[in-house]
Amino acid sequence: MSEHGIILRGGEVIDGTKRLRFVADVAIDDDRIAAVGDLSDSTAETVIDATGRIVCPGFVDVHTHDDRMLRDAGDMTPKVSQGVTTVVAGNCGISLAPFVASERPTEPLDLVGDQGDYRYPTFAAFVDDLTRQAPACNAAVMVGHGTLRVATMENTQRPATADEIAAMKAKVGEAMASGACGFSTGLEYPPARKCETEEVIELASVAARAGGIYATHMRSYHVNARTSYDEAARIGREAAIPVVISHFHCHVEDNPGICSEALGWYEKSRAAGADIMADAYPYEASSTSILPEFVEKRTRTLVTWSKPHPEMNGRDLDAIAAEWGVDRIEAANRLAPGGAIYFGRDEENVKRLMTHPGIMIGSDGIPLQRHPHPRLWGTFPRVLGHYARDLGLMEMEDAIHRMTAASADRFGLKDRGRIETGALADIVVFDPATIIDKADFMDPEQPAAGIDHVFVNGMEVWNTSGHAGASPGRVVGQRLA
Ligand code: ZN
Ligand code: CU
Repeated sequence: MSEHGIILRGGEVIDGTKRLRFVADVAIDDDRIAAVGDLSDSTAETVIDATGRIVCPGFVDVHTHDDRMLRDAGDMTPKVSQGVTTVVAGNCGISLAPFVASERPTEPLDLVGDQGDYRYPTFAAFVDDLTRQAPACNAAVMVGHGTLRVATMENTQRPATADEIAAMKAKVGEAMASGACGFSTGLEYPPARKCETEEVIELASVAARAGGIYATHMRSYHVNARTSYDEAARIGREAAIPVVISHFHCHVEDNPGICSEALGWYEKSRAAGADIMADAYPYEASSTSILPEFVEKRTRTLVTWSKPHPEMNGRDLDAIAAEWGVDRIEAANRLAPGGAIYFGRDEENVKRLMTHPGIMIGSDGIPLQRHPHPRLWGTFPRVLGHYARDLGLMEMEDAIHRMTAASADRFGLKDRGRIETGALADIVVFDPATIIDKADFMDPEQPAAGIDHVFVNGMEVWNTSGHAGASPGRVVGQRLA
């Protein structure tokens, strides 16, 4: 009789803690890692030869908009194919719950759901759906401020009243009690732009008392970014909640020094003891809804999808504007609702972010977009293959730490993010010589290369022939194991 369910034999273990790699066998029993070391005397029902491969914890994608994909396309192909075993959803103030709408929701809520998708009077009802039909990877879900405002206020273009704040606080409390891991804002987006900082502090305090985290898409990443950082820090301090600054970046075209300024601020605040971390993704272009005020500030803009003009998907905004004989703002108005990829970052700054010890890796992928940003499929292999191996900017041990243990600890994912005896068996086996992203701006829906095996809670969900069939994902976070 075999001793173990699975043994991964002879791989180089990178355990997630930044410790240097070491050769070891890894045994899995049920959903846990049973042993790490020389297991040459042990037997298993399934033995996988991992010689020449890295065996490391499954990646935690800390910034996603996978809410609907978790519910509907539970095989999570864009994620598990790149080694992601847990996604954090509900970012940027946008969550599928709690909100009921019969029509297509207002921007940017349409980034995660179309008509009929917002059908959850409570957060518990959404968590129930994820539990009843489990996705292939684990889900840590946050409740979004934008969703709460749209669900609670008749007119979001003003500060919330005391009654409205009280109603939203009750909803944050319900979400946290139902398994949410935190509260997020998207203060740059229309539903939240007019809110006061005090409103956010009050709502974040409720999440704080339940052990949650605060993730924020700030008011601005442009010229006035400095006040946005100060606001994020103040919310963290006054609500007594750990902060994650979402998709840390800076648009250099309107202020070339802004990146150094932002990183300087970030480092100083952390050194002074502020409980702040950030996530970032490894690309020079961003992606979100087509909004005229966003289009105005960016240089090159690629239209990913447009409801009224689907024939323009994948085309350059300036070319469309020229064809129509209008300016880019008018073109954007005609194309909305829709999505776009915005260029305007600087490669040197992307490199600084990717190697920064205070920055976790998060894709910010948007699965609902037709012609999505390639980050949806390529983020993690791109950091490992392009930035760590090919450019040699950091050790893989360091990059993997900021995709696994650092991220799991930040979001309260108990027993995850490490290869050690007793930890939950979320594991990736990959080839360090060939791992690389295949998705690009022209052809964005491509699985990465070099990923050999992916295990979630001890079950194989992906290997070199594609899906392995299992769908063992769980809702994870502060309240649930
Ligand atoms: Zn965002
Ligand atoms: Cu986002």
